[in-house]
Amino acid sequence: MTESVDHFYAAPACRHDVSDLAALAREALPSFPALHDPEGWRTSYRFGSGLHPRDNYLIAVRDGGEDGPLVGFIWVDAAMAVDYGVIEPWWCINAVAVAPAYRRAGHGRALVLTAVERARAIGVALIYGLSVRASVPFWEDLGFTVAADREPLVSDRPARRATGELARLDLDPETDHRWFVAYLQDPASADSVLAPKGYLARG
Ligand SMILES: CC(C)(COP(=O)(O)OP(=O)(O)OC[C@H]1O[C@@H](n2cnc3c(N)ncnc32)[C@H](O)[C@@H]1OP(=O)(O)O)[C@@H](O)C(=O)NCCC(=O)NCCS
Repeated sequence: MTESVDHFYAAPACRHDVSDLAALAREALPSFPALHDPEGWRTSYRFGSGLHPRDNYLIAVRDGGEDGPLVGFIWVDAAMAVDYGVIEPWWCINAVAVAPAYRRAGHGRALVLTAVERARAIGVALIYGLSVRASVPFWEDLGFTVAADREPLVSDRPARRATGELARLDLDPETDHRWFVAYLQDPASADSVLAPKGYLARG
């Protein structure tokens, strides 16, 4: 599905977008080298329309049509399933970037809210990610809970693995990054949620 707002077109990204996605990542996400090489976009599966909580969700916005300049993108997946085999309905915002010429015009907010809406529609319980410090005000403006400097992200109760085992997660942020999280369902009714370590104590 393609959505047009004024002259901006948002649609699930595809291989056609690979060079521009890599170029924007090199410019806007210097601490994310895995996204800098177009070959990585061709060989690591990141495309998806967010049809279920284990799916990828990769949306690109272009200016003026499908061949117009890339305005921004968001890439979301079930990173805890990929990295730890955890099957809780959690989505990770791996990357969101807006080209400098288009910033502070609401595109970043629209990309995140589109992903949040999609997540809600398919039963994702929480959406989280790791932000560079400079972008913390952006996540706070969107209502995300942002962890303190060096505060780990933990599972409040054991999380289920695909193998049937339970896992307790306790993940330090990368240097100069901070975790952020938003709950799309009541955390108390979930089997397990991710939270900054002090979040539950802080209430
Ligand atoms: C973070 C980023 C995606 C924001 O995109 P954007 O389109 O400029 O953001 P929006 O216009 O939707 O901003 C929404 C609100 O977030 C806040 N915000 C955004 N950028 C901000 C900044 N640099 N400083 C302070 N607040 C900021 C503001 O409250 C803003 O609302 P306002 O413009 O009405 O004041 C963009 O700056 C970017 O690509 N940064 C580099 C990549 C990155 O850090 N990504 C996030 C971590 S993966």
